[in-house]
Amino acid sequence: MTNFPHYMIREIFEQPQGLRATIAPRLDVNQGRVRLDDVRIGAAELRSLRRIHIVASGTSRHAGMAGQFMIEELAGVQVDVDYASEFEYRSPLVRPGELTILITQSGETGDTTGALREAKRKGSHTIAISNVEGSTIAREADGVIYTHAGPEISIASTKAFTAQIAALFLFALYLAQVREAIPEDRARYYIHELQRLPGKTEAVLKRAAECEALAQAYCKFDNFMFVGRAIHYPIAMDGALKLKEVSYIHAEGYPTGETKHGPIALIDEHLPVVVIATCDRSDAGSRLRYEKNLENIAGYKKQQGRVIAIATEGDSQIAARADHVVFIPDAPELLSPILEMVPLQLFAYYVAVKRGLDVDRPRNLVKSVTE
Ligand code: F6R
Repeated sequence: MTNFPHYMIREIFEQPQGLRATIAPRLDVNQGRVRLDDVRIGAAELRSLRRIHIVASGTSRHAGMAGQFMIEELAGVQVDVDYASEFEYRSPLVRPGELTILITQSGETGDTTGALREAKRKGSHTIAISNVEGSTIAREADGVIYTHAGPEISIASTKAFTAQIAALFLFALYLAQVREAIPEDRARYYIHELQRLPGKTEAVLKRAAECEALAQAYCKFDNFMFVGRAIHYPIAMDGALKLKEVSYIHAEGYPTGETKHGPIALIDEHLPVVVIATCDRSDAGSRLRYEKNLENIAGYKKQQGRVIAIATEGDSQIAARADHVVFIPDAPELLSPILEMVPLQLFAYYVAVKRGLDVDRPRNLVKSVTE
């Protein structure tokens, strides 16, 4: 492992190339179209889809939660997201002709394999999003979209997660194009932005030293809250999951607006809050959510909460309100989750290192939960 003391940090730094390898071969830039050759479900079937189920476990499910926003917004198809461990055992309402997407880095997770078989038994089309070629789930599903993040060794999933989100965005855009649900210039805009994403991820990685300094300042805290709205909520969830699994610190992920319905009772100087507060200025919904985030931050500060914000470069309002800010490059709201996740991964990694823990092999965990 040249230059990297652990697999986790190496894999965090491999994200630009994982994204490039996942995105570039699927873009037909001249035609302004996404090509997904292995989806293996006909255009007529995709056009008549009324409902999509996304089923996965852990970090892969968080990617699926982000995918729900992408598919609903771009392609206009209703999406439900489920835990694989619940889906298999609760007789889910899946009808013939619907589509079930299984997301799995390893392609071998037992619960997700069970969910795939249940969906097929009920007559659903199935697509796997997997990082391992020829894995059980990739083989058994009707179609597959491989993420090309490269082998992931560290138990905590990092580069597979951002590649999964990119794959879901590609699928959302593909579906939107097949269903003629997106204007051509909008599709071209997104294709251009997809091409810029690996470079922007490199720019976020340049902030690793800032994340390490933050980790130094916060590694002694025993509890954390991570919050985000809409598509940023799954990122808050995964930020909390990364921290708890590698550092053994209790961390919760919440939708920002929901904190006032109970969890805010916990917030004081002993419970730092990480707020995903980016803003896509070109999008009215994003601006509205951003304004609400500012109100929430003011509320946390009133209670002596310590606020760490992830914000968009050039935002001076956040800097005046939060205790610490990590800036990421401006991006369309549906693509910014990929960039937001990187500082949270770095933070979790450095906290674990500073606590002297075995980051690559946290206790009680295995890389692939096959049973
Ligand atoms: C967390 C993590 C796990 C996995 C989960 C699903 O960092 O790695 O939560 O995401 O066990 O694994 P796959 O994606 O292989 O199905």
